[in-house]
Amino acid sequence: MMTAAEYTRQVQEAAAYVRSALGGRRPEIAITLGSGLGDLAERLDAPLTIPYKEIPHFPVSTVSGHKGQFVCGKLGGKEVLCMQGRFHYYEGYDLKQVTMPVRVMKLLGIDSLLVTNAAGGINTGFHAGTLMLIEDHLNLTGENPLIGENLDAFGDRFFDMTVAYDKEYRTLAKATAEELNIPLATGVYAWLTGPNFETPAEIRYLRTIGADAVGMSTVPEVLVARHSGIRVLGISCITNLAAGMTDNTLSHEEVKETADRVQNEFIRLVTGIVSRI
Ligand code: HPA
Repeated sequence: MMTAAEYTRQVQEAAAYVRSALGGRRPEIAITLGSGLGDLAERLDAPLTIPYKEIPHFPVSTVSGHKGQFVCGKLGGKEVLCMQGRFHYYEGYDLKQVTMPVRVMKLLGIDSLLVTNAAGGINTGFHAGTLMLIEDHLNLTGENPLIGENLDAFGDRFFDMTVAYDKEYRTLAKATAEELNIPLATGVYAWLTGPNFETPAEIRYLRTIGADAVGMSTVPEVLVARHSGIRVLGISCITNLAAGMTDNTLSHEEVKETADRVQNEFIRLVTGIVSRI
């Protein structure tokens, strides 16, 4: 396993590369775009693209529906840094690699992260296409990107997760949705590693323990963001009802199709939120 010093050096080199590629630009907010939700990055004004494959030590996206680049640009009057494609544990990366972009964001001076994902709906009030504001999460994997020597330069060994999803941002997101007439549900996101979709028994269990949605991302990034004091807002696009809730079987195609169908609404909501942050 890599030493903390070696990992820190890698993060610093990656951040130095991105900083220089950005020229003088200084994004204030980062937006991680989930499966099928990457189009937002195409709507930025004055876009500047930085492919992950050019960044030293960075992983690359291997999942269809994830492009694999940073796009910096203006959205809602703010300079933002979008991740068009993210990394998942199931791709075979370790969680230090999965969360390296969040460390890089921190070193770039970014203190707000808007994290999005495609998720299965567990709450029976949801349908394919529901947008859900994440109020809290369940980490059911037994995994954690912060295991190992603490990186003191980023944050404390032990840190609070009582309000991981920023309260002020949640209030702002709800007000924005109301103003824009976009229905926005709220709920708890449960992280499982995937890559398989869940069994119906797993979904019944998740519902019993308080999950409203389930997915294969986001929680590692949120843990690392909170460790270093980055404020987090999370939005799930419910792309399908979870396993066993309908007669359908689940597929990545369905996930991408639904995400694609709601992208316009999603983009309007995120743009509205960013302009108000
Ligand atoms: N389960 C897990 N992850 C997902 C799902 C699901 O049903 N839909 C989209 N991502």
